[in-house]
This record gives sequence, C-alpha cells and structure tokens, in this order.
Amino acid sequence: MAGITDAKFLTSVIPYGFDVVTLGGYSLDEKTIEASQKIIERGRKEFHFPKDEIIPHIESEVNSIKKDYPDVRVSANVRSTNPEPIIETSKIEKLDIIEINCHCRQDEIIAIGCGQEMLKRPDLSDYISQIVDAAKSEVSVKIRANVRGIDTLEIAQKIEDAGADYLHLDAMDPNVFDADWKLLEKVCNNTNIKVIGNNSIDSAEKIKTMYDCGVYGLSIARGVISGSLNFNISDF
Ligand SMILES: Cc1cc2nc3c(=O)[nH]c(=O)nc-3n(C[C@H](O)[C@H](O)[C@H](O)COP(=O)(O)O)c2cc1C
Repeated sequence: MAGITDAKFLTSVIPYGFDVVTLGGYSLDEKTIEASQKIIERGRKEFHFPKDEIIPHIESEVNSIKKDYPDVRVSANVRSTNPEPIIETSKIEKLDIIEINCHCRQDEIIAIGCGQEMLKRPDLSDYISQIVDAAKSEVSVKIRANVRGIDTLEIAQKIEDAGADYLHLDAMDPNVFDADWKLLEKVCNNTNIKVIGNNSIDSAEKIKTMYDCGVYGLSIARGVISGSLNFNISDF
C-alpha cells in the first residue's frame, strides 16, 4: 500500500502469520516519480524518492525485513512506464518477487498510461515478457478486476502467456465491499498461473471462500492497515 507498507510496518505484522510481504508501491521512472509528487501535493500518502535513490532504498528495506525474517519472501510493488527500471530493481539481491503494478487508479498515474491503464496498452504482453526474460527475481503482475472496457479473464491469460509467475488479482466488485467471487473462480478455472486472490478479506470465513475459488494464495491490505489483524490466518 503506497506510503504505508514499508519495512517497519511489514515487520510488525509478519508475526500474524504472513509468509510473503509486499513493499511499496514505488514509482521508479521519471514520469511515475513526477506523478507521485503530484499525488503527495494533494494530500495522499505515497513513497517518494529521487530516481537515483529508489533502488538503494528498496534494497535497504528488503534487507531490514530479511535480517529478522530470513524465511519470509519479500515482494516489491512497482510502477514504471517502461520495463527497464523494473528489471534493474529485480536485481536487488534478496528480493524474491518484483510486482508490476497494473492496478493503481490514481488520476495522476492513469494520465501517464500507468497503473490500471497499463491493461489497455497494446504492448502489454511484450512489456511483461521483457521483464520476465531479464528479471533476477520472480515476477508478479497486480491487476484490478472489472476495469471498464477490459476483459479480466483475457488479461489474465495474456499475463500467463507472457510468462509471469503470479497473477495478483484484486477481485474488486465495484458495487459492494466484497470480492467478485465468480470472476475469481472463472480466472482460476481458466488459467494455469498462480493466482493470488485479493479483496475484502476481513475474516477466516472469507479466507475459506477465497481458497474455494481455487486461488494459490491470497493477500490482505485494508484488513491489516491498522497494524493488527483481528482474525487468524495461521490455520490456512
Ligand atoms: C491506502 C491504500 C494504498 C494502496 N496502495 C497500493 C499500491 O501502492 N499498490 C497496489 O498494488 N495496491 C495498493 N493498494 C490496494 C491494496 O493493495 C488492495 O489491492 C486493495 O485495498 C484491496 O484489497 P483489501 O480489500 O484487502 O484492502 C492500496 C490500498 C490502500 C487502501
């Protein structure tokens, strides 16, 4: 979560039972860094670092988590209009997963064709496969479901064909505070990529519902945003 999930926050919530944690999102290239600056100016939290400081910063965050929790896998969620800075970031020695952010819907990010607007890029497959071919870490692609004009299943299949290791799917249903379970199940049943389900998990019952859809794993954001988790994840 932009501006929130730094190493300090993640280290504090790992004891609840998380085996993968995600740093970021970070903006990596000039255009996304400028967009982050504008987002901060209107009062929203963002991580914001100059271009030449961002990779050393992420590396120090990864090392800080690994020092206390060497077995917990660390992912970094990143935005960039071009693949090169993402490939460079994936070379951080102890980083396990680089996650391409095709999810953010802040106006400033959309305006430069990044975040969820990436789903409309005609060269999306090529963008992802360039990263997959050159990355040192595993590659995850985070997307939002039910984006207007986008067929979520088609995009999921495209991401699988491009060779990504994980599809991190925010199964947002725009009309309710609940995941779009049917869509999640459809994606799981019609792809072979490891699907990490996401959206609205705030109870053990919902974790079970999400696994019943066929996900490989799941993620929790708002349910832990306060820094504590009021349901048990270690049974799953
Ligand atoms: C304040 C805030 C900041 C977020 N920042 C990011 C981000 O930087 N990158 C990203 O992929 N998702 C981001 N998200 C989305 C969450 O990771 C997650 O996909 C979404 O909140 C739905 O999951 P949840 O119902 O478990 O919260 C953010 C969400 C919130 C509430």
